[in-house]
Amino acid sequence: MNILVIHGPNLNLLGLREPGIYGSLTLEEINAAIETLADELGCSVRFFQSNSEGALIDAIQAVAGDCDGIVINPAAYTHTSIAIRDALAAVGVPFVEVHLSNIHRREAFRHTSLTAPLAVGQICGFGPDSYLLGLRAIFNFAKNG
Ligand code: DQA
Repeated sequence: MNILVIHGPNLNLLGLREPGIYGSLTLEEINAAIETLADELGCSVRFFQSNSEGALIDAIQAVAGDCDGIVINPAAYTHTSIAIRDALAAVGVPFVEVHLSNIHRREAFRHTSLTAPLAVGQICGFGPDSYLLGLRAIFNFAKNG
């Protein structure tokens, strides 16, 4: 089973960026934890991060037919990007939306997700564990159909 993990804009700055909200782990450390869990589950995982909406869309389009599930943190594009939502709809690969912070207890503009209505589910508020819970969830979903 192949899972793609996509990180949106500014997540390359994890560790430095607002640690009171996003924690002190770097993206590399989070990816290492995801990789460890993927090994335990027996699935293969690939990572992609970009600050650019177009590059994220290209990455989503590229997985069609080659991927059993996606774990995506669209970051700020969650709240704004119809184009990323359309790309996820177009490829039709099941995905879980994850966020480090609980977007529902933050500013009102973060309460709306354009992508969550297409997701199998959304996991937010658990810091890096949101990604690990997301991987388990999409793995089980893809395995069980
Ligand atoms: C985030 C929440 C978003 O609102 C924000 O723009 C981010 C990170 C999170 O993981 O908590 O960049 O997706």
